[in-house]
Amino acid sequence: MILDGKKTSEKILNQLAEKVKTMDKKPKLAVILVGNDPASEIYVSSKEKAAKKIGVGSVVIKLPEETDEKTLTDKIYELNNDETVTGILVQLPLPKHIDKNKITDAICPKKDIDCFTPENVGRLMQGREPYFNPVTPQGILMLLDEYGIDVKGKHAVIVGRSNIVGKPMAQMLLNRDATVTVCHSKTENLDDIIKTADILISAVGKKVVRCKMVKSESIVIDVGISRDNNGKIVGDLDFDELVNVVKYITPVPGGVGPMTIASLMVNLINHP
Ligand code: GUN
Repeated sequence: MILDGKKTSEKILNQLAEKVKTMDKKPKLAVILVGNDPASEIYVSSKEKAAKKIGVGSVVIKLPEETDEKTLTDKIYELNNDETVTGILVQLPLPKHIDKNKITDAICPKKDIDCFTPENVGRLMQGREPYFNPVTPQGILMLLDEYGIDVKGKHAVIVGRSNIVGKPMAQMLLNRDATVTVCHSKTENLDDIIKTADILISAVGKKVVRCKMVKSESIVIDVGISRDNNGKIVGDLDFDELVNVVKYITPVPGGVGPMTIASLMVNLINHP
């Protein structure tokens, strides 16, 4: 069965739009985009579109590639102090001359809609509520919830250990009583580990996991987005081959991508 992220995200956005209508003070998202990364420009415009769709405010602050750290942190301090702004998102990747950690540290944890600040990540690690849940992992869990999939006691194998997806995904699954294994580029015997996955989450951006490794009857979540030789958007996994083998699978596009956007909007509405 296909885990339809497009349909599920539309349902969630419609529910959020109804909720926004009842809110006296509408939330507002502030996005900072530094430079001209084409993929980032597409992601940012989908976030703006979703905000518009549910009736909340959004502002995109575009800064040139050569922006220095001080200009960027000053902008963040200004947004921290702006009472009309509910969530601040600095789109990654940032240009190489900027220290990502310095920028993240400048964001007020109560406006850290991505769950990137040490305070929110620390809260997540402790099994406490962060002010905002990390968006991609939360979007994946919302999709599993929609299909009635309970992760408790299941072996979840995550391929990829990024701060945005792999690590927070592991923690959120642990907080829901899954048994979690995180694999990465140095993992030995990847095939053997993947074969034991009840839930497989691939967040690499490359074709590392091959179909023959995947257990039939497993649940497969493909977080990867890249382009094939023909310029077509593809995931980490071969959807056409796996769809007939596994129990559930997310397509790319139309799986995790739209759920991430819906999850961001959930955060915006549920701000502290
Ligand atoms: N770049 C790719 N994914 C993300 C994300 O979830 N948040 C931010 N801020 N930048 C990203």
